[in-house]
Amino acid sequence: MKLRHFISLSFFILISVCIAITIGFSFTSSLSPISEDDEQEGLSEQIIINFSHVVAENTPKGLAAQRFADLVRDKTEGHVKVEVFPNGMLFSDGEEIDALRRGDVEMVAPAFSKLTSLVPQWQVLDLPFLFRTDKDVERAFTGEMGKILLELLDEHDIKGLTLWNNGFKQMTSNRGPLIMPEDFVGQRFRIMPSNVLREQFEMMGAIPNRIGFNQVYQNLETNFLDGQENTISNIYSKRFYQVQNYMTISNHGYLGYGVLINKKFWDDIPKEYQEDILEASNETSDWLFEQSVLMNNQQLVRIRQQSNIQIYELSEQEHEQWRKYFEPLYKKFEGDIGNELMDEVKKNQSKSYSRGS
Ligand code: SIN
Repeated sequence: MKLRHFISLSFFILISVCIAITIGFSFTSSLSPISEDDEQEGLSEQIIINFSHVVAENTPKGLAAQRFADLVRDKTEGHVKVEVFPNGMLFSDGEEIDALRRGDVEMVAPAFSKLTSLVPQWQVLDLPFLFRTDKDVERAFTGEMGKILLELLDEHDIKGLTLWNNGFKQMTSNRGPLIMPEDFVGQRFRIMPSNVLREQFEMMGAIPNRIGFNQVYQNLETNFLDGQENTISNIYSKRFYQVQNYMTISNHGYLGYGVLINKKFWDDIPKEYQEDILEASNETSDWLFEQSVLMNNQQLVRIRQQSNIQIYELSEQEHEQWRKYFEPLYKKFEGDIGNELMDEVKKNQSKSYSRGS
């Protein structure tokens, strides 16, 4: 009898514990999106967007990410919170796109070149001398070209919000001034992962190396690499100028970013907040068009003041020679890029190069 009671009592306790654990668990799960921010009293549910990127906070992308986070907070009255993780502290540039697609992080903003193995049409933005002025860039990003590129991401579980700009790329080296293509022969150059970039350097007889952004400094310092190409703000913030002796202001390529969010996560965000987030990303783009130009110009002045690097600026005539030299690349990649985007390239370039705008 006693034993029967004991068994019943134990069974009852066991069931009660299981029920308590289950209730506790579902309560915690449903609470997971609730705000941890004590100042935001009254928020029953807060959507957290973790935004990972690989550059420093004081760069065009670093500042844009923080501005975007502030705009999203204001527009959604705190219902959506963007947490920014700079300097590759969550994911390196080689990992971030896969992490986004798996849903391990909600937002990333990789440089265009890093999207080219997933979506080969994005190679269009790596074509050398694609843009001549910042105005050309703005027209392409906010026009049909930008729209087509962002839509292409849909089928890869990615929602493309907008494009952010950084600036024109410049060349640096340790081995001598880089004035004409033949100056590159035999030099080991760091490139971002992109077939257009690889071909571009191979055409000049250089040896391209795909190396992650956060490993570039060390590889330049130890002379594993002779040179690299990047924007002034990246050359400045990563101190590449301290380990390079020559820089050419070539404006030969353009570096910008796809601002991307995981598609499934996006689809689950209520419509009103989706609109706020889109608005915030576009307002940040508008702001960045001016800021990045200012920042690149100011940091070029600082590089000139602080370092022993010799800086050469291509003349208009040299620029034109270089542009002609790379023309065969347009033909070579038009199949990968597709007619629709190549037509946009032609339209944009006819507005710039022929008129001398
Ligand atoms: C970045 O600006 O995100 C890094 C670009 C690079 O890998 O050079």
